[in-house]
Amino acid sequence: MTTHEVVELSARVLMPNYRRLPVAFREGRGMRLWDLEGKEYLDFLAGIAVDVLGHCHPRHVAAIQAQAARLVHVSNIFQIPEQAELGRLLGEVTGIPDAQALLCNSGAEACEGAIKLARRAARRLRGEDVFEIIVASHSFHGRTMGALSATMNPKYHEGFEPLVPGFVEVPFNDLAAVERAITARTAAVMMEPVQGEGGIHPASDAFLAGLRRLCDERRLLLVLDEIQCGFGRTGRWFAYQHAGITPDIVALAKGLGGGFPIGAVVARQAVAAALEPGSHGTTFGGNPLACAAAIAVIQTIEDERLVGRAEEMGGYLMGRLRALAATAPAITDVRGRGLMVAVELAVPSDQVVAACLSRGLLLNGVRPTTVRMVPPLIVGRPEIDEAIDIFGQALAAVAAQGTAAATPAGGGAAPGGPPTATQSGTR
Ligand SMILES: Cc1ncc(COP(=O)(O)O)c(C=O)c1O
Repeated sequence: MTTHEVVELSARVLMPNYRRLPVAFREGRGMRLWDLEGKEYLDFLAGIAVDVLGHCHPRHVAAIQAQAARLVHVSNIFQIPEQAELGRLLGEVTGIPDAQALLCNSGAEACEGAIKLARRAARRLRGEDVFEIIVASHSFHGRTMGALSATMNPKYHEGFEPLVPGFVEVPFNDLAAVERAITARTAAVMMEPVQGEGGIHPASDAFLAGLRRLCDERRLLLVLDEIQCGFGRTGRWFAYQHAGITPDIVALAKGLGGGFPIGAVVARQAVAAALEPGSHGTTFGGNPLACAAAIAVIQTIEDERLVGRAEEMGGYLMGRLRALAATAPAITDVRGRGLMVAVELAVPSDQVVAACLSRGLLLNGVRPTTVRMVPPLIVGRPEIDEAIDIFGQALAAVAAQGTAAATPAGGGAAPGGPPTATQSGTR
């Protein structure tokens, strides 16, 4: 099939819930992807913070191939050695004392599990009327009804109401607001340590440490959603480790499988105990194949020291972007943590994304004027230099388009180029 044929067929047979760019990939290796027509791309999106090892890392491929040839799926009715091993590794990397894991298949499902666990554990610990969960404005926790109800962005709610009750919204990074929102019914506080879909906004370490203290004082559970910022991306295994705290419950997915669909909820044993046999479950969650993929990801991140690399390369990337801002007035702010980076722009992000795409660089518009860069953790200085060159050219081209459009002599029409669909709001 050609890309054109894929676009046509997809429009007919797939639901229209994604605003897809007109690009289809044939294969990937490391930091690079190739489309059906053979054009090469440098990947600074990593499947939206998923492909932490890059594409087709030999260890990931070998683990998946070997497990697929041995055993793909049984059932959680049985003991699953790969799941037990993954649970052990998750306890190690999360640093949660007496950690126990619940394996599932996606980020939304991990958040759903975290919400259910928080409600059930809080009820057991403090009584029947305890169920409310305090969440942040501009949060994103996924698309299932519970996770959607915890997502404080009305654009994702439209047409799906009524939502699940019991979520209380407070401004992000505002500890006093969290404290004011606590009532006798409050079970938990649930936050992203770095808000991803909200536009890459890191929580301050003081806020996270304050949340931990507040939750301890008021006997609330601290639930952190590390789905986008976890697995080394911010320069620690998990972003809460910058603040020197551990949550009671953490929701994980994305980078965990390195592209293989898997999610997890990890909690202190005393909290996890609320999920007695039969209380919660999933057919596919933690099957041998998914766990083998995730084990390979964790071991490879460890062996290749990708957490430290993310910190170093993130600093380099943000330094280069800030230097670029000196000559590119369209850049109004650069923020992030490690390799989770946002560039705030004075021009529409979809135009910049399209200009980058046509020049062979993948990134996305996380907000109408915000571009997100979340490359694989294997990224090196040469690729960052290359990305900055392309990004600079793209900004210049978009600025020139704007000037041409604003100048009557320029004809007023923006030059062509690929369709300018931002991925913001497509998911
Ligand atoms: C912080 C966060 N939580 C939850 C989700 C939902 O994950 P999934 O799309 O795998 O359901 C996402 C996805 O972007 C996310 O960024």
